[in-house]
Amino acid sequence: MTLPHKSLEAKHLPVMLNEVLKICNPKSGGVFMDCTFGGGGYSKELLKFESVKVVAIDRDNHTIKIANEIKDKFQSRFIFHNKKFSSLDSVASSKFDAIIFDLGLSSIQLDNLSRGFSFKSRDELNMMMGQTNTSAKKAINSLSIKSLKEIIKTFGDEEDASKIAKNIVKHRTINQIKTTDELVSIIKSSKKKNYKKNIDECTKTFQAIRIFVNKEITELIEGIIKASQVLKPGGKLIIVSFHSIEDKIVKFFFKNFSKNKSRANKYFPDMKSNLSLFENYKNKVIKATLSEIKKNPRSRSAKLRFAIRSKDEFMDPKDLREKFKYLTDLEKRIA
Ligand SMILES: C[S@@+](CC[C@H](N)C(=O)[O-])C[C@H]1O[C@@H](n2cnc3c(N)ncnc32)[C@H](O)[C@@H]1O
Repeated sequence: MTLPHKSLEAKHLPVMLNEVLKICNPKSGGVFMDCTFGGGGYSKELLKFESVKVVAIDRDNHTIKIANEIKDKFQSRFIFHNKKFSSLDSVASSKFDAIIFDLGLSSIQLDNLSRGFSFKSRDELNMMMGQTNTSAKKAINSLSIKSLKEIIKTFGDEEDASKIAKNIVKHRTINQIKTTDELVSIIKSSKKKNYKKNIDECTKTFQAIRIFVNKEITELIEGIIKASQVLKPGGKLIIVSFHSIEDKIVKFFFKNFSKNKSRANKYFPDMKSNLSLFENYKNKVIKATLSEIKKNPRSRSAKLRFAIRSKDEFMDPKDLREKFKYLTDLEKRIA
């Protein structure tokens, strides 16, 4: 497959790079995991410090070319795996000083119109990040009206979810919905005439379908659990998120599985009630500076949280999965 740009990585500006580097503190070396390699923005900066090693992961096979270029330069200090981060434990042969997640899509993916992530595209409805079984086309043409409504409402927070779902089903009974622009016109015809355009009227539905297709909530929950399993004591778990559901999950995890957990003993079995995955958690959200937002508007909605792994042994935080089961169940709807 030919790639759309000569310098792909130049297409994506890493969000809050300085803040991520400051938390990682790579000056005196360390082993880092970059779970969302993308254009390699974080990996490359970390590798500039001589005794740093980076293990990077990305589910998208379009990132292999960029990873190979970095590998040529940094050799054994850099290892790349074309995998989903929900299985990061399978590539962790040692423990890590910091593990970074920069969630969502890269500009490289969004701007490649043939992948169908953007509502500016006129190509096939695809939206698959990689290693996914369901395309957006399959989801849109086969999910029940009830599932479509719930997915668009829950993952997109779209107030007109019901009308959009109804109109999708109405259209597909006549003709299969194949392209991005067909979905765009269905969404537009479903929105109120006086829709206030602070964001494009298609943004929320596209986001919801993308989350469903790539099972992004299940990935996040499993990914952060596995990450806490392979962090060194004192190691940092760093997450940059762009969606309120993602931030809610991260906040819950850090707050309830830290030494100062909000409700003592609630989330671990009685016998181990004094154990924790993280040190005291301050519930602090870091945001991009105004000057970064000017250069990179995508950073406007980014929220960075990090927590420090405690010395305690790992215990599976089952209640994190339980708490958000309604979301992971929604991602299991058959398309
Ligand atoms: C926002 S971009 C990361 C950009 C990167 N930090 C940089 O500076 O270039 C997110 C990347 O994570 C990847 N990704 C998303 N979910 C993933 C998952 N569950 N497993 C592995 N990679 C994932 C996407 O394919 C995308 O390339």
